[in-house]
Amino acid sequence: MKSLFHSFRLPLFVCAAGAACFVGGCGKKTELSEGPGGTPAATATAAPSATPGITPSAVPSPTETLPSPTLTECPTEPPVTKTPTPAPLNTDTSTVTYLVNREYPLPEDFVPENLTTPDVLFPFSDTSIDKAKMTPEAGRALALLFDAAYEEARLTLYGVSAYRSYARQYTIYATNLARYGTAHANRYSAAPGRSEHQTGLTIDISCASEDFLLESTFADTPEGVWTAENAHRFGFILRYPKEKEDITGYNYEPWHLRYVGTELAALLYETGLTLEEYYGVPSSLTGEYLDTTPFIDTAAESYRSIYTQYHPE
Ligand code: DAL
Ligand code: ZN
Repeated sequence: MKSLFHSFRLPLFVCAAGAACFVGGCGKKTELSEGPGGTPAATATAAPSATPGITPSAVPSPTETLPSPTLTECPTEPPVTKTPTPAPLNTDTSTVTYLVNREYPLPEDFVPENLTTPDVLFPFSDTSIDKAKMTPEAGRALALLFDAAYEEARLTLYGVSAYRSYARQYTIYATNLARYGTAHANRYSAAPGRSEHQTGLTIDISCASEDFLLESTFADTPEGVWTAENAHRFGFILRYPKEKEDITGYNYEPWHLRYVGTELAALLYETGLTLEEYYGVPSSLTGEYLDTTPFIDTAAESYRSIYTQYHPE
């Protein structure tokens, strides 16, 4: 397999003082964009990096020998970032790194091959149902992630919602639209065809102290903290990070994991980039557009029948 590092140059952060800092060295978080944090109620129906760089400590005089480079702290001023060179956009569903979002949807009839139930805990008993299934590769990686959480930190993670068909996603999105309104639905719920859950590479996870719900408070639990720090080792990314809402088009979802393989997951973890930034296609559907635009036909009978359950006439 071609190295991802060959097709994607790590971003170079240039500190305000002029020191060049390469990602991965410094330990302080550097965000490429700012955005509002989000903590609205979760929809139960659905369910980095400044861097001490290596900087020459001084320009040597002609009579001096070059000093050894020394590790220095980054200055406190915010760094100016250079835009990284994006990777070629990948929408090839035979890979594990392809992009799915509002602007790059899946066909209605797309169903991943060989969906299977991973060997992990779920908070429901019938694990033969769709939402307990993933692709074999993603499922094996999830089992390794959950096993490591227990073996390394005695933490027990649960799978809550994995694969969803186009039809199931229609029901979830339409329900959220009818129940919570367009703005809230669009911030937390993908329209049919636009959900990563249709890929079989995605799962929402939780833990007992969260009552197995999908809430932003999961991020502050030991299980949520461990997951955020370790998921990449097993090929998963937190797909909708905090303060990247305007790039992904979705609010912070600390529970939503997407399998992309260990190589890309490590790169995205180290750089703090979202999948949209990696491919150079940040969402253009933001703000007021999302507040007011439903992504299904709200005049359709299939939607009206759901709507009237929440708004009886
Ligand atoms: N909650 C994510 C965005 C989905 O519905 O796929
Ligand atoms: Zn999800």
